[in-house]
Amino acid sequence: MTIFAERDPTLIPSDPLMLLNDIEQRLDRLLPVESERDCVGLAMREGALAPGKRIRPVLLMLAAQDLGYRDDQNGLLDIACAIEMVHAASLILDDIPCMDDAELRRGRPTIHRQFGEPVAILAAVALLSRAFGVIALAEGINSQAKTQAVAELSHAVGIQGLVQGQFRDLTEGNQPRSADAIQLTNHFKTSALFSAAMQMASIAAGAPLDAREKLHRFALDLGQAFQLLDDLTDGQSDTGKDPCQDAGKSTLVNMLGCQVVEKRLRDHLNRADRHLASACTSGYSTRHFVQAWFDKKLASVR
Ligand code: IPE
Ligand code: IPE
Ligand code: MG
Ligand code: MG
Ligand code: MG
Repeated sequence: MTIFAERDPTLIPSDPLMLLNDIEQRLDRLLPVESERDCVGLAMREGALAPGKRIRPVLLMLAAQDLGYRDDQNGLLDIACAIEMVHAASLILDDIPCMDDAELRRGRPTIHRQFGEPVAILAAVALLSRAFGVIALAEGINSQAKTQAVAELSHAVGIQGLVQGQFRDLTEGNQPRSADAIQLTNHFKTSALFSAAMQMASIAAGAPLDAREKLHRFALDLGQAFQLLDDLTDGQSDTGKDPCQDAGKSTLVNMLGCQVVEKRLRDHLNRADRHLASACTSGYSTRHFVQAWFDKKLASVR
C-alpha cells in the first residue's frame, strides 16, 4: 500500500511533488477532448499538459496553505490550474512566428509546429477563456472571492501585464535599452502573473490586506529573479527550449554579463524572502520551496 492511496484527498499536501501531481491530474480533467479530430482541444491539452515546471500553481497552493487555507483543496486546485492555463496560453503565443518564432518548448515541437499557426492561436485564446470559466465554476470558493480572483487574473493578462510585456519585448527587445526599461518589461511579462498567483492565494485564504500587499512585493521580486534565471539559462541545452533565443536581444545578461546578473538575481531573492517571511508568519512551505527551487537551478547555471 502506498501513502498516496491513504492520503485524504481534501487536504492540501505541502510536498511540492505531490502538489505538482495533483495539479497535473486536475489540469487533465479540466481539459477534456471528445474526438481526435478536435485539433484545437488537442492543442490546448498539449500546450497545458506538456511537462512544464508548474511553478506558478505550486506557489499559489503553498502560499494559500501558509496563509491558513484549510478548505477543500479542489476549489484551490481549480484556481491554480487557471493560472497555469493562462501561462500556457502566453507560451503558445510567445512561440509563434510573428513573436519569438520558437521551434521547441518543454522539450517538444512548439504548438504551431505541431498543429499549425491558426490552431495554435485559437488554442491560446480558448485556454485563456477556459481559465476564467474554471474560476467562475470553482467548487467551494465563495462568489466574492471568485470575482476578485477574476479581476486579478484579468489584470495580469492584459495591458498592465503579459500583453504589455510581450509588446515591449517585441518592439524594444532588439534595440539597446536601459536596465530600467528591461526591468519594467520583465515586470509586465513575468512578475505580473506571479503577483496574480499570490493575490489569488490570498483571496482564497481570506488573508488581510496587509499580507496581500507583502505578497505582492514578494511576487515582484520573485518575478524579476525568475526572468533573470530564464535569461541566464538561455544558452543551456537542457531547457527544453531553442538554445540562444536571446542572442542579440537586449537582456540584462547580454548587457551586464552573467556574474552581475547572478548577483542581482540573489538580491531579488533575498528581498523576496523578506517580504514572504513577513506575509506568512505561521507557515513556511512557500519559503522552503522557493529557496530549494532556486538553489537547485542556480547550481546548474555554473
Ligand atoms: C517561461 O516560463 C516564460 C518566462 C516567464 C520565463 P516557465 O519557465 O515557467 O515555463 P514552463 O512552464 O516551465 O515551460
Ligand atoms: C516570455 O518571455 C514571457 C511570457 C509571458 C510568455 P520569454 O520569451 O523570455 O520566454 P521563453 O524564454 O520563450 O520561455
Ligand atoms: Mg518572448
Ligand atoms: Mg520566448
Ligand atoms: Mg526567455
